[in-house]
Amino acid sequence: MCLCFLACHKSDNDEMNIIPKPKESLKLSSYFNLDNFNIYADKNSIEISKLLVLELNKLDYTSDSIILFEDPIKDFSINLLIDSSISKHPEYYHLVVNKNFILIKGSDREGLIHGIYSLIQLIPRSIGFNDSKLACVAIKDFPEFKWRGLLLDCCRHFMSIDFVKRYIDLLAYHKMNVLHWHLTEDQGWRVEIEKYPKLTDIGAWRKEKDGSVYGGFYTKEQIKEVVNYAYQRGVNIVPEIELPGHSVAALAAYPEYSCTGGPFEVEKDWGVFKDIYCAGNDSTFVFLENVLDEIIELFPSKYIHIGGDEAPKYRWENCSKCKKRIQDENIQDMHELQSYFIQRIENYISSKGKKLIGWDEILEGGLANDATVQSWRGFEGALEAVKTGHDAIVSPTSHAYFDYDLDAIDLEKVYNFDPIPIDAPSDKVKHIIGGECNMWSERAPQNTVDSKVFPRLLAMSEVLWDYPTIRDYNLFYERVQAHYKRLDVLGVNYGLEKKPIDMSSEYEDGQFYLTLNKGVKDLKLFYQINQEETVLYDSTFIISESANIKTWAVKNNVSYGDSLQIELYKHKGLGAKISDLNTYGKTYDGGGDNAIVNGLRGGLNYRDGHWQGYFGTDFEATITFDSIQRIDSVISSFYQYNLSWIFMPKQILVYTSVDGDNYYKRAILSPQISVKQEGQFFEEFVLTFSEVEAKHVKIKALNYGVCPDWHPAAGSKSWLFVDEVRIY
Ligand code: ACM
Ligand code: ZN
Repeated sequence: MCLCFLACHKSDNDEMNIIPKPKESLKLSSYFNLDNFNIYADKNSIEISKLLVLELNKLDYTSDSIILFEDPIKDFSINLLIDSSISKHPEYYHLVVNKNFILIKGSDREGLIHGIYSLIQLIPRSIGFNDSKLACVAIKDFPEFKWRGLLLDCCRHFMSIDFVKRYIDLLAYHKMNVLHWHLTEDQGWRVEIEKYPKLTDIGAWRKEKDGSVYGGFYTKEQIKEVVNYAYQRGVNIVPEIELPGHSVAALAAYPEYSCTGGPFEVEKDWGVFKDIYCAGNDSTFVFLENVLDEIIELFPSKYIHIGGDEAPKYRWENCSKCKKRIQDENIQDMHELQSYFIQRIENYISSKGKKLIGWDEILEGGLANDATVQSWRGFEGALEAVKTGHDAIVSPTSHAYFDYDLDAIDLEKVYNFDPIPIDAPSDKVKHIIGGECNMWSERAPQNTVDSKVFPRLLAMSEVLWDYPTIRDYNLFYERVQAHYKRLDVLGVNYGLEKKPIDMSSEYEDGQFYLTLNKGVKDLKLFYQINQEETVLYDSTFIISESANIKTWAVKNNVSYGDSLQIELYKHKGLGAKISDLNTYGKTYDGGGDNAIVNGLRGGLNYRDGHWQGYFGTDFEATITFDSIQRIDSVISSFYQYNLSWIFMPKQILVYTSVDGDNYYKRAILSPQISVKQEGQFFEEFVLTFSEVEAKHVKIKALNYGVCPDWHPAAGSKSWLFVDEVRIY
């Protein structure tokens, strides 16, 4: 871009802090005055100039007229042009704010829209500052990845049309260009299909446990309105119609397309459910094709997402129609049957000129020819897809699941997300078309969505747009603080950047040394010991006895996140040596091998960093003291949350030894808690024996094994979660 026509000079402060950060930008001295301007647009930009008017209106600037023009640029004006010759990059724009005029030029309509949102972010009123002097700038910008998405799950919790439109605004504002609209689920079918009215008459409504009815759906008229609204803002809506799994709501309406014939109710629990579409019944495919016909008519998107994830094969294994299909088609196993299912749907979608996307399970048993893979179980699915020349969208649970707590995915983690898998062959990288953040809504009714999506979406937008080679989180963090003023003006109820507080404990000479770490630097931390006086934390503090510690954080005089309550236990196992541990889950290490004897017991959140989780294996540990001790009880805590596949142990056993060779069984206990007991809770188990002398204590807790038959994930391995093994 030629900057020579700028009647401004380079300013000292280059920072203009647009998020996502533009590829090239220059801040210049002098100002354009927004009190008086016209809008000029060439004929390709006339439609888009209405978006500029709308956005300016939101900031209380009015321009009554949009004037069609070809050239040259007028004074006291904002000028919009589309010119494909300015760049080879799709979605490219340049923006010049000069003392006399503003020019936004896009290489295509999407580029022009991005330029408009950069301009809007620069206007002082967008940060709530009522000043019409707009600093002169020059920006050249284009995205690194063409797919920059957000999944909204409007099934687990329904989201209103206005809310969805608001999210389209927020996506466009941050130059994200895909709304992945999750429209069908076990817990609700949310899109009107004229040929199958029961999908919404029955499938859109579920009976909650308290007897109330919950649900909703979008009419075709509403969907058309949203699709058009999104198009005007450069956002493509990709509908997701889940198959063959996550389909209980549809089967509740049309049980004839299941293996068993039903009947079913729309699910009210969260999880993975074994009733799925029957793969042996041709009429199931006719039904799905008819549904897809109406979806394809409604959504102009080139891509249709068909789910494909988490389809248990239990029903197929026991269905005569499915078995016959396997025989007739010479299919080797259930994965191949799923592949047959997806392939058949892919053929249909292709025949309509559309492209299929599916979650990475569609790789299993053979990938359909032209399918795009959305990798969620790590990066492996993306890697496998691109190696065979398929496109991939990357949205792993490690970085992109915005329904997860900050314990698992905080702002820094998202900022460090690299959608290109390690080991991706360089000639295949082009097949990584981008990434998505996934806003699943099991635990997120509409009014909580902002606090989960923001500020994490800011990091995702910058990674996918700018793909910064050097990621300085501290600099980004500062820019996010400034950007909050824009989010305040937009009415976004953003959440936290990080888990506020981490507590760690060292035990030495009969005392606990407790250290609190701030999640972000601007926090003040406070604590109370046994609900006594409030203390402002300044450095490691010492406690000599068992205690209840409550800590909380404050940022800018406002509390930052929930308080943290930790039980601290003094017992004989503190600081003892741990050996013979089985392998615990990487993400649930509890802080390492010593987690079970560090004095801190995990709380009600099993992801709080204190619980240690074992997947499909037993918990077993040998605790060795410095010298022989007299002991008479072992108290251990275990967790249950059956919907996350975490169950109480079947049995807990304690052995002791003096010499480390000969162990004696001292106590055994079978927890009397039903694995069906719902919710998230933990329980303390006391095993007593009389006055034993021991140097070694071995504790075993037997994993429940596999999720039971009644469970949505029947047959899958189960988790066992343990914390603090207290010895007295
Ligand atoms: C998924 O999270 N089941 C795609
Ligand atoms: Zn079947």
